[in-house]
Amino acid sequence: MRHFPIFLDLAGRVALVVGDGPIAERKALALRESHAEIRLRARFDPADLEGCAIAIGADAPIADLQALSDAAQARGIPVNVVDKPQLCSFITPAMIDRDPLTIAISSGGAAPVLARLLRAKIEAVIPPAFGRLAAMAERFKARIRERLPDLAQRRRVLEDLFTGTAADLVFAGQEQAAEAVFEQALAGHVPSGGMVYLVGAGPGAADLMTMRAQRLLGEADVIVHDRLIGDAVLDMARRDADRIYVGKVRAHHCVVQEDINGLLVRLAQEGRKVVRLKGGDPFVFGRGGEEAEALHAAGIAFEVVPGVTAALACAAQAKIPLTHREAGRSVTFITGHTKEGRLDVDFETLVAIGGTLAVYMGIVSLPQLRDGLFAHGMDRAMPAMLIERGGSPRQRELRGTLDTLVAQAASWSQSGPTLVLIGASVARGIALRDIGTSSGALADA
Ligand SMILES: C[S@@+](CC[C@H](N)C(=O)[O-])C[C@H]1O[C@@H](n2cnc3c(N)ncnc32)[C@H](O)[C@@H]1O
Repeated sequence: MRHFPIFLDLAGRVALVVGDGPIAERKALALRESHAEIRLRARFDPADLEGCAIAIGADAPIADLQALSDAAQARGIPVNVVDKPQLCSFITPAMIDRDPLTIAISSGGAAPVLARLLRAKIEAVIPPAFGRLAAMAERFKARIRERLPDLAQRRRVLEDLFTGTAADLVFAGQEQAAEAVFEQALAGHVPSGGMVYLVGAGPGAADLMTMRAQRLLGEADVIVHDRLIGDAVLDMARRDADRIYVGKVRAHHCVVQEDINGLLVRLAQEGRKVVRLKGGDPFVFGRGGEEAEALHAAGIAFEVVPGVTAALACAAQAKIPLTHREAGRSVTFITGHTKEGRLDVDFETLVAIGGTLAVYMGIVSLPQLRDGLFAHGMDRAMPAMLIERGGSPRQRELRGTLDTLVAQAASWSQSGPTLVLIGASVARGIALRDIGTSSGALADA
């Protein structure tokens, strides 16, 4: 290790930045974040080094940068000149700021680009909320030391807090509840309860999941998942995580909803970190609401992580603007699910609203849907389409009107999950496909 890493306390101390350009400004900004008092000069004047704790040069004539380096080093002031290692007494690392937590990465000047790439990777797995967790630990620090004077015991309790429910609650934005867990730990009670995450897995493509969902999959002890979750998504889970399949097929419920609710509660009560992985978004036609209610009733901490719902994924890949100023100023999500053979839909309101209609689970009841919409005044020529396995490389599309779709659906379908889109915007999508996705075309959408 050629360079010894340290973190300088610059609060209230003078930092000289010599240079007149964007890099010098960026450096000044970063130093200001450390609460340093900034002295920003376009040219170097030795008098400016007076009382300085640190000096940085960038975007200045080389003679000034050389003079800055010589004068600072003669006075024992740490100096860095950007991209001129021979003029530096210290180098600046690539940084991840999760205040008060700071992570610095350095290649010792050997490969700064590599250090920056590494930073991006680390940033992806360390959510911004880590800073909030560190800040909370700081607030409790004095009391924890007082209450747990034995270092080994203190370390054990802190490790529990940083890896257990307290941390999960901070990451979920539930800081009050997290503080309560800290308080319990101070009172000598280590909470044993787990936490449940109702996570949207998106339409199936692993890279359409949120970063939060990916992180949680990598951390979960147990994953409770649906039928629509593909291998690409499940592959992101921790290797040793338990997987429990509770998929439902229409009219053939593999595990009834009440049992799923009970399972989630029980797993959390065993102290496990549970990811309940659902296709699309957990709160869009996924019965996530019922699971949330059951968890709340049982006093289980939970977080809801949104996912890309099928309508958004299907429309995006088919280049259908779900809203368009001229062809659909609203979008409505409905389910074609029937109860005792009847489609429970307010057709009059749907036709009156207009806009784009996205119908989930609409294939079986498509004839009823068509009849209801037409009976309440929908134009028989209204564009409509079926999208199967949307958001995946296997997405298939069938375009037409409700009449042609009803006639062709059975022979066209390959039994994948299918969404029905209805509305003038569907035809806009065809126009967009014809002219490509130039920014001009999309700017109007
Ligand atoms: C029980 S709902 C779940 C919806 C899910 N929570 C969401 O937000 O996408 C299942 C229905 O969603 C639609 N769906 C889900 N994934 C789909 C996909 N990849 N392509 C087309 N439709 C999909 C189908 O209509 C399917 O019958």
